[in-house]
Amino acid sequence: MSPPALTLQHVSEFAADVRESLTKPGQRELPSKYLYDEVGSALFEAICVLPEYGLTRADTRLLQQYSEEIVNRLPSPVRVAELGSGSGKKTRWILEALSRRQITYYYPIEISPHALAACEKELAHIDLVSVVGYEQPYLEGLRSVAEGRDERDHVLVLFLGSAIGNFDRDAGEEFLRQVRATLRPGDALLLGTDLEKPVDLQLLAYDDPAGVTAAFNLNLLARINRELGADFDLSCFRHEARWNYADRRIEMHLRSTCRQSVRIHSSNLRIVLDEDETIWTESSYKYRAEEIPEMAGRSGFRCQAQWIDEEWPFAQTLLIAE
Ligand code: AVI
Repeated sequence: MSPPALTLQHVSEFAADVRESLTKPGQRELPSKYLYDEVGSALFEAICVLPEYGLTRADTRLLQQYSEEIVNRLPSPVRVAELGSGSGKKTRWILEALSRRQITYYYPIEISPHALAACEKELAHIDLVSVVGYEQPYLEGLRSVAEGRDERDHVLVLFLGSAIGNFDRDAGEEFLRQVRATLRPGDALLLGTDLEKPVDLQLLAYDDPAGVTAAFNLNLLARINRELGADFDLSCFRHEARWNYADRRIEMHLRSTCRQSVRIHSSNLRIVLDEDETIWTESSYKYRAEEIPEMAGRSGFRCQAQWIDEEWPFAQTLLIAE
């Protein structure tokens, strides 16, 4: 099945977001959610298997090792909603463990039709699991799942892969609050969070020698060229990963290697970038293990358990809505 075509509404939203973020006073930006078109999603899948990017393997290892224990701590029966399911590969462990005790409904919620199609394909054939995808923003999709459940059903929300790290800290906490607002007491949230580690390791994870992350970042400009009729010359930009010590986050930037002018037709915009000026495309905040229950506590959850990977500092935290 081929993914649905872009609608006019998608294009004009994209064009407006690009215009707004590129013309911000001071640091120019582009929203990281647009990194994930079909090419970007495929490059992200490649990042997940890079030796330098231990995050996905740690996330998966914890789910593989502890899925039985996680499931045993959940209320019953439970429906599973995953925010930003990606390919869905690591979710298999939880679904298989759940399907040993109940018929399981699994709702991947994704704005990327490509990722959603891949996830549905990956998880379609687990016995006693039925997969219903929602191509919607996270909270909208979650509301549909929570409202559509039977009275006796609980909801387990999966927010894995440290996607919370792509929100600013305050916005991440506010997001948890909004997730909590869609849930009932006793519902659960399993939150995967990448933890702080030595800076050189963190930088390598976001600037790998094979250049996959660089391609992922540069593809954002290529996507704007393709979809918004722009004329970014990719050979005049360099990928850069930085560790921001004050805010404890990796920042991805695209550095202009010369003074250049760029036109973006659908955004009705022409910009002039100075030599060495950067466009900030993504932040990945890193956390300390104890910050997660604290932040969740302020958002209406209590921490039921936390598991930390021994090889690559990463935490799975099981939170229960109060
Ligand atoms: C999806 N997200 C958690 C990834 C991260 O690590 O922030 C995206 C990514 N960006 C560069 N590499 C991976």
